[in-house]
Amino acid sequence: MTRIARLRDYIQAMTRLADRAPDEATWLAEGRALLAGLLRHDDWLPDEFAAPGPSYRQYLLHCDPLERFCVVSFVWGVGQRTPIHNHRTWGLVGMLRGAERSTTMHPVPGQPMRAGQVDHLSPGEVVAVGSAEEDAHWVENALTDRPSLSIHVYGGNIGAIERHVFDPETSAPRRFVSGYHNAHLPNLWDRAAELAPAH
Ligand SMILES: [Fe+2]
Repeated sequence: MTRIARLRDYIQAMTRLADRAPDEATWLAEGRALLAGLLRHDDWLPDEFAAPGPSYRQYLLHCDPLERFCVVSFVWGVGQRTPIHNHRTWGLVGMLRGAERSTTMHPVPGQPMRAGQVDHLSPGEVVAVGSAEEDAHWVENALTDRPSLSIHVYGGNIGAIERHVFDPETSAPRRFVSGYHNAHLPNLWDRAAELAPAH
């Protein structure tokens, strides 16, 4: 059974946090602990939001009604990767399945971008990215035999934020609004299975 209640509980906790209008450091610290708690189990994500596609997938799981934060599942098939991109808001990335590799990239105007730090993420790990940091990076599936999946949380509606992808050869930025791959959201609110009496 998909235990969607775990996702609902997580979103409720994040909404309570949002209602306190936290500063970014608090978002990252408390949001990181909440995301680590969600990742302790892998029984709550409906399959349709974990399906690989012809390129990496970005499925919106929830957007706060006031767009204070959003929760997204990213799925990388074998050999798939993102373009080099930035975020323009704080972010949390937590690994649910498989493994991924993130490479920080520094623009050098008119010249090839310079690769920086490489981070590897394994299930249960969470990394935080502040909005003030140089956050251009690309992310790839670190496994060669199966898809990988991570849960991302951002300080806004990330699919609607105007940001940039970068040409690796020239460092030139290009306007980018990512959108999402799903037209429908997980149903958090059907509690019948939880409330049904045991027979
Ligand atoms: Fe990213």
